[in-house]
Amino acid sequence: MDIKITLTNQRKSRPEDESKLGFGKIFTDHMFLMDYDEGIGWHDARIVPYAPLSIDPACVVLHYAQEIFEGMKAYRTADGKVQLFRPECNAVRMNDSCDRLCMPKIPVDDFVTAVKTLVDIDREWVPHTYGASLYIRPFMFATDVGLGVHASKKYIFCIICAPSGAYYAAGLAPVRIYVEDDYIRSAPGLTGAVKCGGNYAASIKAGELAEKLGFSQVLWLDGIEKKYVEEVGAMNILFKIDGKIYTAPTVGTVLPGITRRSAIELLRDWGYEVIEDRLAIDDIMQAARDGKLEEVFGTGTAAVVSPVKELDYKGEAAHISDGKIGPLTQKLYDTLTGIQWGTLPDQKGWIVEVPELG
Ligand code: PLP
Ligand code: COI
Repeated sequence: MDIKITLTNQRKSRPEDESKLGFGKIFTDHMFLMDYDEGIGWHDARIVPYAPLSIDPACVVLHYAQEIFEGMKAYRTADGKVQLFRPECNAVRMNDSCDRLCMPKIPVDDFVTAVKTLVDIDREWVPHTYGASLYIRPFMFATDVGLGVHASKKYIFCIICAPSGAYYAAGLAPVRIYVEDDYIRSAPGLTGAVKCGGNYAASIKAGELAEKLGFSQVLWLDGIEKKYVEEVGAMNILFKIDGKIYTAPTVGTVLPGITRRSAIELLRDWGYEVIEDRLAIDDIMQAARDGKLEEVFGTGTAAVVSPVKELDYKGEAAHISDGKIGPLTQKLYDTLTGIQWGTLPDQKGWIVEVPELG
């Protein structure tokens, strides 16, 4: 893939205080773009100054939400290297999303090359502070013009980057989660296992209601019986009950998180039994009553490893780890972030360096 590069002559000023970055609020100087036309394939890969896109009001994505995205990060190590975490997993998952939404796939190597090239060009934007990183948002959307419901024949693939801190305003502080027993996020046969914007649009109402009640996000239950835990708004969720780790299987209704998969690998290395099976919310609440719900944490690119201090279900609150970060949650956070920021050796081959091409 040849990438044509047009650099901006109006570089933006970068934030001085990296502790106040927030999440996904400011964007770097450049973006990656590539077009797809049926019969031609992907073409015109380019990096251009970050700017608004112009699209026709009758564009398919604006009406029928044929859109998918990914979320990944670039980290700066203490010795100044810039590195990615398992970027090929994001490329593969994006292609799974393409498949589900009838969109054209992108070769894994091209996806990773596009990310590396853009991050290299905006390298100065990768934060210098441990815990802050460059959040990378690749996304693809349908650009056919017309109101018939069909798979578009034209698409844009775009990557933008946002220097970011913690996803939750409170940082690594434990969060309160509302167990949603009215709305659902997914059901077998729907799109829960892929990363399409429509999943998030459908989830906003429950999230807003929960936020008004002082919760950070909702925990979704399965869409059929509303009995089994699935995942949280922007992260997978794991439960430590009586020494064992439980999490929902990623078999069609739950997003197969890359952080989840990495966490499970580490936990198994450390000798924990990790059970990927259906787990009823009633059993979790009972474990809390019995004093056996030891730790609960979410995993995600944006959320990293996020401790949960409270689950509220049908008016009952389960309090976890005395409101503090549990020791295993902390160990997982320290290990994953250590690998990502390069303070711990990458024994798993998860790190991909962004070479400096100048
Ligand atoms: N589940 C949902 C709904 C998400 O939006 C995310 C974030 O990407 C995750 C899980 C975690 O996935 P990952 O660890 O790949 O970021
Ligand atoms: C990520 O963690 O990368 C996500 O995509 C979550 C996002 C919805 C904020």
